Amino acid sequence: MGNGLILAIESSCDETAAAVVERGSRTLSSVVASQIATHARYGGVVPELASREHLRAVVPVVRAALAQANVTLNDLDAIAVTSGPGLAGALLVGITYAKALAFAQNIPLIAVNHLEGHIHAVLLNERETSERRSSLDDASGVPDLASETWESTNPQDEPALALVVSGGHTHLYLARPAHDAWTYALIGRTVDDAAGEAYDKVAKLLGLGYPGGPWIDSLAQYGNPQAVPFAFAQIKTKLHLAGKPPRTKAAKTAPIANLDPHFLFSFSGIKTAVLRYVELHNLRPEAEARRESLYTGPDAPAKPTVEAALATCDPQTLDLIASFQHAVVGDLMKKTFAAQESLGATRILVTGGVAANRELRSRFTAEGVRRNIRVAFPTLALSTDNAAMIAAAAWPRFKARDFATSSLSADPSLALGR
Ligand code: KG4
Ligand code: ZN
Repeated sequence: MGNGLILAIESSCDETAAAVVERGSRTLSSVVASQIATHARYGGVVPELASREHLRAVVPVVRAALAQANVTLNDLDAIAVTSGPGLAGALLVGITYAKALAFAQNIPLIAVNHLEGHIHAVLLNERETSERRSSLDDASGVPDLASETWESTNPQDEPALALVVSGGHTHLYLARPAHDAWTYALIGRTVDDAAGEAYDKVAKLLGLGYPGGPWIDSLAQYGNPQAVPFAFAQIKTKLHLAGKPPRTKAAKTAPIANLDPHFLFSFSGIKTAVLRYVELHNLRPEAEARRESLYTGPDAPAKPTVEAALATCDPQTLDLIASFQHAVVGDLMKKTFAAQESLGATRILVTGGVAANRELRSRFTAEGVRRNIRVAFPTLALSTDNAAMIAAAAWPRFKARDFATSSLSADPSLALGR
């Protein structure tokens, strides 16, 4: 099995990433080339541009990951790659390169579901922390009993309720560890937009850049979260089962037929409510002026700062931003804890780009403390797309010799779990 070194490549959306991870638990390198600058001015990811940028970046990013890990291709035991879900053309760039590397090195190729990758971002963090802990214990001469106690309470042995909340997904899974491998059952998901998509659309509407999440995250703290009472209606599954195929890309990645409606999300309503508020209070001209001063105007800075954006926002806009975020986080929290309680999961994992959100982290953590439920997040760098999480998810597959064949192709709507 060598040293258990896996090189992973991730190119499902707008980041080209490569990482080398040892035995699914020690990150030797994690390199992410973001395409934000390419897509920012369009207010969203342009698929054709994404593929072109991946083509440009994939070779240097992989080289950088090997160099930073201080390994060569010959040291690797396997190549892992994201095979879906994501943009077809973008995925194919990573898959094609991963196949070529695996073939040339004569080592296995492992296909990883991007959503499983996000879940493993949290598990990777936990493993790294526990390894650091046990090596500290070793060094300090703490008796074996202590590490045994740690092992027996290892949270990675327990089923977890995982919320994957990103630009493409808002999905709840029950993740169960089973002899190194993990199994996933889909518990809930969005019936329309993903939470990150709502962040991005609201930011675009307000003249802020792409991705919108970090802008809203930063500006929300200056507004009153109670100012606009946004509400989420209970979703009726039957409405969505009227024989019509789901319309959005998020909806296509998983069926909703047998899901408890209490665990379904919908973010298109709040997006429309924000739009109505903007129209009603005539905030559009201000948003246009903001876009111009931050992005499109002759004096627009190369890289707009939060301070510059803040200077363009009146209190009403800041209240709108704060209220939007408060409502979204509240809804995510309510349904996630309800699912955790109903399924008897002993802990919650929150992961994906939106898990980088400060209000989300603090409110989920506080609610976890109140209910005595562990809530774990990846580090900020591992929350958004990266390849270390792909290498971590590939490790159990490597041990199980669950390898992809040379016919591996991109699956843009690849589902996870049932
Ligand atoms: O996981 P990710 O990098 O890519 C996908 O798989 O989609 O997530 C990107 C999404 C974007 O919608 C972005 O606006 C959102 O995550 N995001 C945030 C924050 N940072 C990124 N949303 C809220 N608050 C943040 N701090
Ligand atoms: Zn992602």
